[in-house]
Amino acid sequence: MNGGNDALSMTMEPLGELEQAEASTAQARAAELELRQMRQLAAIGELAAGVAHEINTPMQYIGDNLCFLDVTVKRLLDLAGSFERLVQCCKSGAPSLEELERCEQELSKGRLGFLRKQAPLAIEQSTSGVDQVRSIVQALKEFSHPSGDEAVPVDLNQLVRNASTVTRNAWRYQAELSLELAEELPLVLGNPQALGQVLINLIVNAADAIEASAGTRPEGELGKIAIRSRAEHGVVELEVADNGSGIPESIRDKVMQPFFTTKRIGKGTGQGLALAHSTIVERHAGKFFFESEEGRGTSFFIQLPPGAELE
Ligand SMILES: Nc1ncnc2c1ncn2[C@@H]1O[C@H](COP(=O)(O)OP(=O)(O)OP(=O)(O)O)[C@@H](O)[C@H]1O
Ligand SMILES: [Mg+2]
Repeated sequence: MNGGNDALSMTMEPLGELEQAEASTAQARAAELELRQMRQLAAIGELAAGVAHEINTPMQYIGDNLCFLDVTVKRLLDLAGSFERLVQCCKSGAPSLEELERCEQELSKGRLGFLRKQAPLAIEQSTSGVDQVRSIVQALKEFSHPSGDEAVPVDLNQLVRNASTVTRNAWRYQAELSLELAEELPLVLGNPQALGQVLINLIVNAADAIEASAGTRPEGELGKIAIRSRAEHGVVELEVADNGSGIPESIRDKVMQPFFTTKRIGKGTGQGLALAHSTIVERHAGKFFFESEEGRGTSFFIQLPPGAELE
């Protein structure tokens, strides 16, 4: 009984200042982690819808092409049957006139001219559709591969390619996206999922800014997003540039604050840039900043130390 009370009084003892500070830091860290995970889940949900659409389009024409090729193969096999019979006839003497006429009829029914043109096209289109689906699946696999907090060598160019692929549905109706990636970009040490998520946020923001400024372009003209990578002055730099609405001067110091958004409810939660900032600056000891001109566009920059320097 007594021992039980002792234990109770021990746990009830007020925490020292240091312990309190430690506890609240741990709490803040756990809250940040939870927020980051929630945000990532929400982003994955959004992306999944876009990716499903991206995969659906090639799957539809691959399906149509397979139906066409199914009919084509049946037709060609029928013709091969006629050819076999003709060969048999030739072997056992000259084929009869009826036999020859039947073959001729089947040849014209087979619409060989049409098949010669269309069948290779159907195969080519289907192969490129399969490649497209494969690259989307590969990019998703790389993004969703579970990784701890441990830093691994990361190829930023590959992350850029993957992020462009999985966000295609967010930008393709608004903008042309060009990649200007430096050859032999040094690897950086970091968390590929977290860095990939930053790129996704920046690309989606760029597409949104271009959509917001659609009224200033001639009808039907797409905006431009350019993603560049370079290694200069001992840093590896990524730039995500858009020619969208730009960021008004009055809100430039607020855009990286958590929950700051100018987007309508349901579209933006105001967490993309706050998380990007904490990922780049706090988790990767890098720099994260932007240059913007209202009405002309914005460039976001990520600067990271090359991997070799971190080892
Ligand atoms: N490329 C850009 N061009 C113009 N404005 C931008 C750009 N990127 C961000 N902003 C501005 O910064 C705000 C905050 O961006 P952030 O990514 O943090 O949140 P969000 O995009 O509004 O919502 P979320 O990313 O959570 O979906 C945006 O609402 C927008 O006003
Ligand atoms: Mg955003």
